[in-house]
Amino acid sequence: MYRTRNCGELRMQHTGEEVTMAGWVQTVRKFGSITFVDLRDRYGITQLYFNEALTTELDKNPVGREFVLQATGKVIERTSKNGKIPTGDIEIEISNYKILNASDVPPFTIEENTDGGDELRMKYRYLDLRRPTLRRNLELRYKVNRSVRNYLDTLGFWDIETPFLIKSTPEGARDFVVPSRMNQGEFYALPQSPQTFKQLLMVSGYDRYYQIVKCFRDEDLRADRQPEFTQVDCEMAFVDQEDILNTFEGLFKHVFKDVKGVEITEAFPRMTFDDAMWHYGNDKPDIRFEMKIQNLKAEGKVHCTTVDGTEFKVFNDAATIVAIAVPGASEYTRKQIDELTEWVKRPQIGMTGVINIKCNADGTYKSSVDKFFNEGQLKDIASFCSANAGDLILILAGAETRTRKAMSELRLEMGNRLGLRDNSVYKPLWVIDFPLLELDEENNRWVARHHPFTAPKPDHIALMNDLSRYGEIKANAYDIVLNGTEIGGGSIRIFQRDLQEKMFAALGMSKEEANEKFGFLLGAFEYGAPPHGGIAFGFDRLCALLGGQESIRDFMAFPKNNAGRDVMLDAPSAIDDTQLNELNLTVRPA
Ligand code: AMO
Repeated sequence: MYRTRNCGELRMQHTGEEVTMAGWVQTVRKFGSITFVDLRDRYGITQLYFNEALTTELDKNPVGREFVLQATGKVIERTSKNGKIPTGDIEIEISNYKILNASDVPPFTIEENTDGGDELRMKYRYLDLRRPTLRRNLELRYKVNRSVRNYLDTLGFWDIETPFLIKSTPEGARDFVVPSRMNQGEFYALPQSPQTFKQLLMVSGYDRYYQIVKCFRDEDLRADRQPEFTQVDCEMAFVDQEDILNTFEGLFKHVFKDVKGVEITEAFPRMTFDDAMWHYGNDKPDIRFEMKIQNLKAEGKVHCTTVDGTEFKVFNDAATIVAIAVPGASEYTRKQIDELTEWVKRPQIGMTGVINIKCNADGTYKSSVDKFFNEGQLKDIASFCSANAGDLILILAGAETRTRKAMSELRLEMGNRLGLRDNSVYKPLWVIDFPLLELDEENNRWVARHHPFTAPKPDHIALMNDLSRYGEIKANAYDIVLNGTEIGGGSIRIFQRDLQEKMFAALGMSKEEANEKFGFLLGAFEYGAPPHGGIAFGFDRLCALLGGQESIRDFMAFPKNNAGRDVMLDAPSAIDDTQLNELNLTVRPA
């Protein structure tokens, strides 16, 4: 046996025990004629004490950081205890040791906080993964995985694998494609999700399916997006929206309790897509804090008057005027306001400026537009915005989409600045009643908001006959949002051939094209497809949020960098001519 104990388990009650341990050398500290070595493994760190004779041996054949060591000795009480680690009361008085393997000096420190930059850590990911931070993240990921499986298993869901070499599944991103050697000139696509397969499984009668599965999407990357990521993908037959929401709300509650010890007893709030856009400026509202967006212009009418009806062009010309009342920020200095103005002018936000009204603690008002509004009018705006004395009202005016999006960002920014986005607080909600279709303005065509298999609300099906009303059609689609992040989405599906064909037609697909791309699904709908629906969760996102972070990278063992590269493997990379020839491919010079 290489070891009898691990590096995280020994306590005072083990003193006197003879143990053998194996692990990696974290630090070597020599004090005169004796030496202390901190030995690390997945379970923790234990201090080893080498006496004078062994220290002489160590001097002849030194061990360095990350050497793999096996050591035998007796557990003894430490004279100077370390309250920071669970094994800090004891140490091992070594009688015997063996270097199992040497190590080069690692390129960064392998400790809780490292001196290694992102790229370096990605290149040596196997070393980075030795750090306790990452080890904890992967442990959490495993616990979430186990908890999800337990819950779904109890409800009779079966884990059924679906293929990776498939034909495109439209989920709104580009496909990664794989050339076929046996069918030259033809390509597989990697699944953006197992969407069509899980629907086919419903047709086959496997009415409760799930899979914790890799999905592949070629899209621009962000902190919460990776080109290959994991979904908890689920589907049920003979259900309506209410059944799905209840089943998966149950899943979340189970996971929160199991993994975080957080008991959520009340039902998750539900908000319509329209309300989310109106009050939060986006479809994934962070409801950990209020600061709701107030709409000072609705249906073309401005909800405030100017001095003597003067023309205030900024308001009159704007399609949208939105405001937030930032609690307790009325004492913002000129400098702070200027800095906020610069913030909204950044290209990512794209506004020309921000108007402010200070609701002073003494009941007076002061604004950046005093020329246009007298004190009474400012007071009216403040009361429209439900602002209190001491608040700072921030107003943005401009084109609808940009202004709403900018206000949504500004609200989150102010939430951050005021410390209102506490990562240890969990506020999930369902966003429901999404539009079925969305106008892609660039190409002037309608696209599916979720995906083309989503069912319209039954009483909206008739609207599909009227192009001018496409924008009004609502879908039986839902997202689950946690702390401002979309962690899951799904829908009730279309299960009748004629409605599915109608949907493809609405998306501008000819009958031939629809048959060529989705003939298998349309065909399956001819053979007794049951009503069905489902949902998929972003597993990496869920784990990151449960770990109190926004970036999903450090919750994956081997992620890609922001350019979609695996810097450790140096992938993607060119392939050799033999492979290209076998595939009958030629690469054009870039
Ligand atoms: P959707 O496209 O909404 O739905 O994806 C489901 C969830 O997956 C997560 N997600 C991602 N996570 C990390 N990196 C990415 N690039 C990425 N893209 C998506 C999000 C998202 O909510 N087939 C449908 C589900 C269904 O209708 O049942 C689907 O894939 O958290």
